[in-house]
Amino acid sequence: MCGIVGYLGKREAFPILIKGLRRLEYRGYDSAGVALINEAGGLNVYKTKGKVDNLVEYTSDKDKTGTIGIAHTRWATHGEPSAVNAHPHYSQSHNLAIIHNGIIENYADLKGKLIEKGVEFKSDTDTEVVVQLVEYIMNKKQLDLLTAVQVALYQVIGAYAIAIIDKRDPLQIIAARKQSPLVVGIGDGEFFLGSDASPIIEYTDKVVYLEDGNIAVLRLDKNRSENSGMELKVVSILGEEQELTVKKVDIDLGQIEKGGYPHFMLKEIFEQPECLTNCMRGRINVEADHVTLSALIDYRRQLLSAKRVLIVACGTSWHAGLIGKQLIESFCRIPVEVEYASEFRYRNPVVTKDDVVIAISQSGETADTLAAIQLAKERGAFIYGICNAIGSSIPRATDTGTYIHVGPEIGVASTKAFTGQVTVLTMFALALAEAKGTMARDEYIKVVKGLSEVPELIREVLKSNEKVADLARTFTYAHNFLYLGRGFSYPVALEGALKLKEISYIHAEGYPAAEMKHGPIALIDSDMPVVVIATHNTMYEKVLSNIQEIKARKGRVIALVTKGDDKIAKIADEVIELPDVQECLEPLVATVPLQLLSYYVAVCKGKDVDQPRNLAKSVTVE
Ligand code: F6R
Repeated sequence: MCGIVGYLGKREAFPILIKGLRRLEYRGYDSAGVALINEAGGLNVYKTKGKVDNLVEYTSDKDKTGTIGIAHTRWATHGEPSAVNAHPHYSQSHNLAIIHNGIIENYADLKGKLIEKGVEFKSDTDTEVVVQLVEYIMNKKQLDLLTAVQVALYQVIGAYAIAIIDKRDPLQIIAARKQSPLVVGIGDGEFFLGSDASPIIEYTDKVVYLEDGNIAVLRLDKNRSENSGMELKVVSILGEEQELTVKKVDIDLGQIEKGGYPHFMLKEIFEQPECLTNCMRGRINVEADHVTLSALIDYRRQLLSAKRVLIVACGTSWHAGLIGKQLIESFCRIPVEVEYASEFRYRNPVVTKDDVVIAISQSGETADTLAAIQLAKERGAFIYGICNAIGSSIPRATDTGTYIHVGPEIGVASTKAFTGQVTVLTMFALALAEAKGTMARDEYIKVVKGLSEVPELIREVLKSNEKVADLARTFTYAHNFLYLGRGFSYPVALEGALKLKEISYIHAEGYPAAEMKHGPIALIDSDMPVVVIATHNTMYEKVLSNIQEIKARKGRVIALVTKGDDKIAKIADEVIELPDVQECLEPLVATVPLQLLSYYVAVCKGKDVDQPRNLAKSVTVE
């Protein structure tokens, strides 16, 4: 949540910062701002409500010069979205400016104390308290900026990634992190700063991921020529110097651009065949009928001895977890529980050293999932992560894990990450089942082969794009949708409903089809579209009866059926055909038309598909 960008170097900072904000806009987009120190030593802060475009327009006639600057795109927590509450925030003297991602929990207390000392606040944010506190400490104790930041952060409770500049020292940015990500990019005579690497990769592939509790000093010395006069120092809050590890980022620019698609979401839906191929590369060997996950080789003992698996995740990742439960239970015969990380962390759950906890997260930064990991770790469980964002906090907090390798996901509504997570969960269940000997060999081979064919099947499903777009137009009138599925299709129904509500703002609910008669059936009338996953599997006849029940009440049925099914075609209002696929692999193909359906409904309604209201891609607050 909230995107942070910084630049210190020899070029004009403003264009670099704006480009960076656009790349990070998925993290929040209710207001944006920039702070620049110009040649004359003036610190200019410009900020506006709304998206980065508004900021660009607002600054068109302003002084945007300066080779040092910080910029921010906000997802509001404390204080409504407005220009005043947008970041950067000045300190009282206007010497300092700060940007922040996270939540300062004791801000009210600190603010009260500073007000008593005569400090005047301009905004309702928790962030402003940090810059005012830093300045107060600098003045009162006659400290330099770094030491004042250390002293201030020692008093701060909460989560933060911050960057501060001081107009009296235009060759330095101070940045710090605790529970919110921050990456420093090292160029030739220039530094970059980002909430993730996406605003940096265009300029350099050398990065340092800051660790929790660290403060980075980015400094240029224009009189020094060696290493282009650059100095990067990382210290702890207590001032102890920390070791630096410079890593190489391996993201190519094309992956974070739209590549001709009108929206990132559509691009990411269409990328799925390629993404899943990448996800399985080197892990599935069809000739040898084998799945290899390095985590299962390196940590065989810990994973094989699990008496129970606990899956923790949020949102779409939680839906993937529900599918993982069915896969692991049926292939490996181990009990699996799936928990919302946000509930798990606060309810004193029973976790023991015999448990393996699987944490699933696209961003690798979700605060609730991280906290759930922490709790499970304290109780002795072994933690296995399934993440997408390389080097993010969750993979670093786990004992081992598997990256889904689907490339950066920019659209706020998760699509390719979901199918990537389900693919990894399938491989995990297969590899564990083989190691435990809980799956018949022919069944194992059949699923391995079936999984390797999924990218091709998704390509086939994507051919229904036009049809789904037409169908979406027919249903944009609806205020409610019901999604039904059974077994492996139940989490798909949940995921379809979540996709629709988050980008088109239509109320939608996912239900196990058989539960309909226990309540939701009362909602059905001629205005109610019901999406039913009714493919040819073990539940087929039962789901067919559910469809009859809906039709008897004049509901409008959109059925996902197996190619060639003419029984359901006769009674449903609309059908979308899916290729024939094994039941356990069905979520991977059945989810795709539901992603397209939500996409086209949102487009027809004129909604902002990639950046739906109130949401952010990376939920780093509780
Ligand atoms: C829905 C969506 C969210 C995320 C959830 C967890 O489309 O994207 O529900 O799935 O916020 O995020 P991660 O997977 O990053 O932990």
